[in-house]
Amino acid sequence: MSMTHVLDQIAEAAGYLWQKGWGERNGGNLTVRLDSGCDTLCQQNGQPKETVPIGMTLPNIAGMYFYVKGTQKRMRDLARDPLANGCVIRIADTGDSFTYATAPVPPTSELPSHLMVQDYLMRSGSRYTATLHTHPIELVALSHHRAMLDDTSRPNRLTQTLWSMIPETLAFAPLGIGIVPYEVPGSTELAEATMAKIRDYDVVLWEKHGIFAVGQDIMDAFDQVDVLNKAARIYLDALAYTAVHPESQPEGMTENAMQDVQRIFHLPKQRPC
Ligand code: 13P
Ligand code: ZN
Repeated sequence: MSMTHVLDQIAEAAGYLWQKGWGERNGGNLTVRLDSGCDTLCQQNGQPKETVPIGMTLPNIAGMYFYVKGTQKRMRDLARDPLANGCVIRIADTGDSFTYATAPVPPTSELPSHLMVQDYLMRSGSRYTATLHTHPIELVALSHHRAMLDDTSRPNRLTQTLWSMIPETLAFAPLGIGIVPYEVPGSTELAEATMAKIRDYDVVLWEKHGIFAVGQDIMDAFDQVDVLNKAARIYLDALAYTAVHPESQPEGMTENAMQDVQRIFHLPKQRPC
């Protein structure tokens, strides 16, 4: 995908995040791996080659280029101008620092999670290029309920609940949603906990904070979160009826109906590429 196309897609996705109310102020961030065509961009930009340590060594993304949202930058501004509110970085050949390939904009505070996961995706030979962190209202609301954070079974309780809301949830988010217990935003601990779950899921819930998702491109990552959050919204709306009619609980699709969806759509049980 050309650099222009990637930037257009980033702007489009950032606009949706703002419109959905998931990107208050500077909330949320994203990275997209770019192809080697960026070499020329790096050579032409004439920026001073300041080397910025990343606090870890990530050998699988050494020498690679990423678009990264800037810290404290707003999604609604990214939607207008991705390169004024983020930048392209090149990971050093040593894998432990980066240089700016476009005008320097200090990267998101969640860089540890984004780069650690990008490193994992490369190591595992995945074609996925995008990582997204955002604050979807209904999913975060559910993460305040202890029962919804139970991750002892697969599918976990939250996944089971969301899948059972409409057939499309299972069809378009077939891996479900993993649970990452609360950690301080921007911390290496949060990055490590995210990594532990992203092997099995395309989307993970950061308890009482937001979600972290991966996708073939940024729109793919956005779509999966959108599908899951829509199901969360339906669940909460169904519960609003229960508040008025306590004798009636949301039913959810039957086990048989869910198995039918699984059979008809030939759904993968792990990341397809
Ligand atoms: P940044 O502005 O540093 O990207 O932080 C936003 C955020 O959502 C942190 O979790
Ligand atoms: Zn956040």
